[in-house]
Amino acid sequence: MHPTQQTTIERIERAAEDVVALTLRGAAGPLAPWEPGAHIDLNLPNWLIRQYSLCGDPADRDAYRVAVRLDPLSRGGSEYIHRFLRQGRTLTVSQPRNNFPLAPAPEYLFLAGGIGITPLLPMLRAATAAGRPASLVYAGATAETMPFADELRSEYGDRVRIVATKQQGRPDLAALAAALGPDALVYCCGPASMLAEAEATFPADRLHAERFQPVAKEYGPATPFEAVCARSGRTVPVPADETLLDALNHAGYPVPSGCREGVCGSCELTVLDGDPDHRDDIGAPTDRIFPCVSRSHSDRLTLNL
Ligand code: FES
Repeated sequence: MHPTQQTTIERIERAAEDVVALTLRGAAGPLAPWEPGAHIDLNLPNWLIRQYSLCGDPADRDAYRVAVRLDPLSRGGSEYIHRFLRQGRTLTVSQPRNNFPLAPAPEYLFLAGGIGITPLLPMLRAATAAGRPASLVYAGATAETMPFADELRSEYGDRVRIVATKQQGRPDLAALAAALGPDALVYCCGPASMLAEAEATFPADRLHAERFQPVAKEYGPATPFEAVCARSGRTVPVPADETLLDALNHAGYPVPSGCREGVCGSCELTVLDGDPDHRDDIGAPTDRIFPCVSRSHSDRLTLNL
């Protein structure tokens, strides 16, 4: 359903404490193009699918680069990558998807926390190449835990401020906001605490944030509905205690999934009719739905399946 690509792991290198960077070369010629902010799914040999932001150069169609932090609460993805993936192995990856695109602006401020630096690396490069004033504030517990800090310092000099929060405390976002031009856009990627602080500091129409974890939200009770699969002509009942994704999978529709939390976009489907009850953190357009979390307000939801 979602096209995939074959890659070969050309390099696995240590990028910081508990962070490895993977270079994935296209096994059958050039890889699909992408733009800053995009991510890919890695289809891991242990059957898990995990999403990682592309942090290399979009002009390089021969290889993708991603960086992976070992998550102590890993559900098996980052741990597998750190412990078992080896150079030379073949890895299936998705086409790039972009839930975090870089909009045109006269000036940019990029705010990164830890591994949240990854989507911002190509953004900073693109903004700089376009001749826009752009700066990066990059926070992490200590210098040793922050991937690409040296590379950023040497490439961008004083456009980049590295903040080791254990020694220096957290960056003062209010001071950054006060120094920003009126039309500047702010791109933020990092832990939930940093995103919450950015949301409290910058106007919503100027802040673009990418989340790795869903925001806790309250919804009314889930109600049953029917998914009408327009292309196959079948109707799949979705009980109150099952997700739309699971109901479709159990009915034999191989809808892929990654996070199953409404943050990655791997399970995206097209809605042809009905009133979707969007519960994702991506911001689904009206004709799309992320069935791992979203449901239906209407009794029937017609999907392009
Ligand atoms: S599986 Fe990640 S958004 Fe649905």
